Amino acid sequence: MDRTPTRDDKFSFGLWTVGWQARDLFGEATRPALATVEAVNRLAEMGAYGITFHDDDLIPPDSSAQERDRIIQEFRDALNETGMVVPMVTTNLFHDPVFKDGGFTSNDRSVRRYAIRKVMRNIDLAAELGAQTYVFWGGREGSEVDFAKDIRAALDRYREAMDTLAGYVIDRGYPMRFAIEPKPNEPRGDILLPSIGHALAFIAELEHGDMVGINPETGHEQMASLNYTHGIAQALWSGKLFHIDLNGQKGPRYDQDFVFGYGDLLQAFSTVDLLENGAPGGGPTYDGPRHFDYKPLRTENMDGVWESARANMELYLSLREKARAFRADQEVQEALQAARVPELAQSTLGEGETYDELRQDRSAFEEFDIDRARTQGYGFARLQRLAIEHLLGTR
Ligand code: GCO
Ligand code: MN
Ligand code: MN
Repeated sequence: MDRTPTRDDKFSFGLWTVGWQARDLFGEATRPALATVEAVNRLAEMGAYGITFHDDDLIPPDSSAQERDRIIQEFRDALNETGMVVPMVTTNLFHDPVFKDGGFTSNDRSVRRYAIRKVMRNIDLAAELGAQTYVFWGGREGSEVDFAKDIRAALDRYREAMDTLAGYVIDRGYPMRFAIEPKPNEPRGDILLPSIGHALAFIAELEHGDMVGINPETGHEQMASLNYTHGIAQALWSGKLFHIDLNGQKGPRYDQDFVFGYGDLLQAFSTVDLLENGAPGGGPTYDGPRHFDYKPLRTENMDGVWESARANMELYLSLREKARAFRADQEVQEALQAARVPELAQSTLGEGETYDELRQDRSAFEEFDIDRARTQGYGFARLQRLAIEHLLGTR
């Protein structure tokens, strides 16, 4: 099995991932700062095609105008030399103390106005660099004290910010879409738009909702004990899977941001299977970047950082290979049929059938063989066994 990543695999990394110096709540940095140009070069060498960033990852917030220009120029040169692209850009609306009560939903109106301006400025840069997706992760949008935040007003303000910024992008003619990244908590006690479902419902209320989708992160759904594969399937169903953050998480605890698959490996397998084989009739459901948002372990030096960056891509490729073999396996195909998986694609009412006709169909109710339906086995256990065998390579 060739697990050497190529540009066609569309692997991308946040600058803040390999660049994380491992400063955490309890301890200082364990690694030196990583120069952006080196991050671009190393990731390109390893076979990634893209790099993403928050405004402040690339340009330190206190930079002068000249420094800013120089940094951007160096970054552009590195991109040109390596052929790396910038598929996505985002804003840091969480680090600076000004955002301690949020950006778009701070109780302080002046902070909200500042936050929108900060995003606008970086959207211009994102557009210059050709980013097609702009991510919104509202880490500080939330509260610890229920009485301190009027949630309905906060959602009004969140919507106002999103619509204002969408209007800005539309007026400028930028070919860019927005993607909201849900997360249940951390750093706030409770974050607004805590899950994929909340975010989708919010998007439906936006004026420019058609250009807004989501950027679901594996670990964030799993922190809330939710099924990530189901979540992205629903996003696909709604036509809203604009971007993804792949990583690993061991159940409901702090946001671990492990390497992709280093947590619920079986679910990572079904995630990759959905992304790569889930289209009706087979084939990919999603053709955007396979973006890794992970944190290299704090125990590691830079060797371990690159080791883990590689591990994300290799694991994805391994699972992709296994998912293809799973689908190509004759016994799996039989098991899928036996489990009636394809039957769910059949509409429940016949074509053009009315509810009156359904009411007249005695076989559907009066003469329904309910005992057969009650006593049948669905054969899901066999499918599960086959999936595990493929995953472990024991087949
Ligand atoms: C997290 C988040 C962040 C966001 C990123 C984009 O781990 O809590 O994933 O890393 O993805 O900041 O804005
Ligand atoms: Mn995370
Ligand atoms: Mn993320």
